[in-house]
Amino acid sequence: MKESSSQARSTWSSRWAFILVTIGSSVGLGNIWKFPYMIGLQGGSAFVLVYLLCILLIAWPLFMAEILIGRRGGGNPVSAMATTLAECGASRFWRVLGWVGILSALVILSFYGVVAGWVVDYLCKAIVGVRVETALEAKRAFDTLLGNPLQLAFWHTVFMVLTVGVVARGVVSGIELANKLMMPGLFLILVGLVFWGAVAGDMPAALHFLFDVHFEAITPDVFLAAVGHAFFTLSLGMGAVMAYGSYLDKKTSIAGTSIWVVACDTLVGLLAGLAIFSLTFRYGLEPSEGPGLILQTLPLAFSNMPGGRVFGVLFFLLVTFAAWTSAISLLEPFVAWLIESFGLRRATAAWGTGVAVWLLGIGVCLSFNAWSEYTLFGNNLFDVLDIATSRFSMPLSGVAIAVYVGWVMGKRIVAEEMRLPHGIFSVWFAVVRTLVPVAIALVFLHAITG
Ligand code: TRP
Repeated sequence: MKESSSQARSTWSSRWAFILVTIGSSVGLGNIWKFPYMIGLQGGSAFVLVYLLCILLIAWPLFMAEILIGRRGGGNPVSAMATTLAECGASRFWRVLGWVGILSALVILSFYGVVAGWVVDYLCKAIVGVRVETALEAKRAFDTLLGNPLQLAFWHTVFMVLTVGVVARGVVSGIELANKLMMPGLFLILVGLVFWGAVAGDMPAALHFLFDVHFEAITPDVFLAAVGHAFFTLSLGMGAVMAYGSYLDKKTSIAGTSIWVVACDTLVGLLAGLAIFSLTFRYGLEPSEGPGLILQTLPLAFSNMPGGRVFGVLFFLLVTFAAWTSAISLLEPFVAWLIESFGLRRATAAWGTGVAVWLLGIGVCLSFNAWSEYTLFGNNLFDVLDIATSRFSMPLSGVAIAVYVGWVMGKRIVAEEMRLPHGIFSVWFAVVRTLVPVAIALVFLHAITG
């Protein structure tokens, strides 16, 4: 029965296709928008070092565990949980994990789409050649955008149509194709930008800022930010990785493929940081600008540097591609669930879900202007959705996935799915059972008490 239903589902056309789409999911606004500004806010190299450790010791092992559940279950996150828990005889309670994943992914998409909309707006401004001459002007331009609900809603709508359009076309002819077209472009542009950054910017200063070791700057807050970001950048805990893993064929090695994804994701973040900080330092701008780093600081650099217009267009095109392929992965888990549970046509499921997410996104657009006085503990809707997902559902799902794979599924099933040499398997399994849940739980407690 399980065999026949899994045969009816699509699978990626090759192992490389899986690697590419999963890189597409993980490389997103997180790498190019959030990672650099967090490095800037959290004191540079200390954050980078802790972040690399978190990726290696916590996020990567968990990433494999999430792929494992998806592939073993052979279905959308809800049914993958149901199938695997039936197989190992666990409590039905664990199904919650699938639900939390697919619903949180939609919530993330609602504000992710709004931020991606800002990027598309900046892309268009770069194309028509809008310049900013002073820091004040750059800030005003950004504030004007945030203050204009119609403009925000317009770009958010454009971005959502792009995202839904791809998911509606299907796993192979939509998602896989879009990634095959965009990801090589993304890498080429990024490498080009790093070169340009080395020529036109201050690369040595950027290298010092990112890689000089300052152990004294490592604080619990840096840890907290680093773990949270490691989760976000690898798309963990939200069913996205589980859903993509479910389209992976049985023969492919989970560990072998995941190395590529984790390495590329990390590399893209670091390269983007190098390119961005080279310019930031060359033009005497502030690295600790916060979320406005790429939207306020960089346009200033682009306006002042030789070839800045071309550089600006390419840069915002890069961010658009990155955000688009990630947004696709936020929509797919819920759409897969609708298709597999109710037999809906893919296009109906995708557009229907898209409309619901879009509506929530309109609320997010308004939370910056017309609705800005409606707050919860001082947070507008945008902040509330961000905090609810990144500080609560993401870490809680993370612990749950680790406990489920480490303690509930049973070693035999897990080993069968991982097919690793005994020694390596034992290390990974021990990490998933102990280090991962304990580390995330500590971070979570620190986040809610601190
Ligand atoms: N990883 C993406 C980024 O870095 C965002 C993303 C896509 C995501 N899918 C996700 C985050 C699922 C959490 C869960 O921008």
